[in-house]
Amino acid sequence: MRVLSGIQPTGRFHWGNYFGAIRQYIDLQSDNEAYYFIANLHALTTVREADQLRQNTLDAVLDLLALGLDPDRATLFVQSDVPEVSELCWLLMSGTPMGLLERCVSYKDKIAKGLTANAGLFTYPVLQAADILIYDAEVVPVGLDQVQHVEVCRDIAQSFNHHFGETFVLPKPSVLEATAKVPGTDGEKMSKSYDNTIEIFEPLKPQRKKIMRITTDSRPMEDAKEPEGDHLFQLFACFADAAELAEMAAMYRRGGFGYGEVKKAIADASERYFEEPRAKREEFAAHPARVAEILADGASQARKKASEVLNRAKKACGVSG
Ligand code: ADP
Ligand code: TRP
Repeated sequence: MRVLSGIQPTGRFHWGNYFGAIRQYIDLQSDNEAYYFIANLHALTTVREADQLRQNTLDAVLDLLALGLDPDRATLFVQSDVPEVSELCWLLMSGTPMGLLERCVSYKDKIAKGLTANAGLFTYPVLQAADILIYDAEVVPVGLDQVQHVEVCRDIAQSFNHHFGETFVLPKPSVLEATAKVPGTDGEKMSKSYDNTIEIFEPLKPQRKKIMRITTDSRPMEDAKEPEGDHLFQLFACFADAAELAEMAAMYRRGGFGYGEVKKAIADASERYFEEPRAKREEFAAHPARVAEILADGASQARKKASEVLNRAKKACGVSG
């Protein structure tokens, strides 16, 4: 299968990004032809500081490498290093109805949060469609909030194919149900824009403090509690194996424990879980030339595939012979 996903460098990655999206990238890289990229052109719709965007992009690459993305198995690159994608985006634009973009929840959310409605923000899903279609991707691993964008991509591809003849492969989203919506420190969906994130690589001490401050209900300690739907239990489940999870569920149902114990268990488990990636990240950060080489190789591999599909699309719609 051909797998593709992108992630925006809009800030440091958090547990939601990892369990919703990044972990799938790693799982899928072994038995598939996988393409993963840092969506810096998409980030430009909201990050308006050049140095910040450059730094975020590098941080994103280091995070992915540290978390196990293997450049010998997957093609890792930066979106803007494949200029073909912007050209394909334009070819798709004229066949994209305004109504389709107006229905996109992520655009409406961003406007509701007070972001200025720029054209890039509105046409964001068309560039995302180009990202996916230009690699003939069949499967797109994402968290729940990106499923609509993959569906928009299918609509755009279908209408192009219908109008100009079979050109694009229709992709499908891949979502890990259990971790499709990792809760944040306030119990709502963890997201950079809600200021409720726990970053994967933030220093351990402040991270532990943050975990200990996660909001909880005020039920008395003696009460038995239902684990399903409890956000602390959901967070613990991200890190625990089946036996640890069963033990924690039993503790909830027995009652007589404090939420502080669960928080401590989350802090301990997450520290163990990300111990090796923390060390790997330092190692990559100390070798910038190696990282630059990985990205250059990734871009050149990605461009090979991208130019093939772009030529196919240009021929189909009559802008080349
Ligand atoms: P954020 O909401 O923090 O801005 P992004 O929108 O950049 O995160 O998401 C990057 C990837 O991580 C997407 O595939 C998205 O679906 C996934 N993701 C983000 N937050 C979560 C979460 N809380 N649970 C599961 N997946 C998530
Ligand atoms: N919109 C995605 C996000 O915010 C990032 C993205 C850009 C993407 N292009 C993509 C995801 C292509 C999957 C496929 O997370």
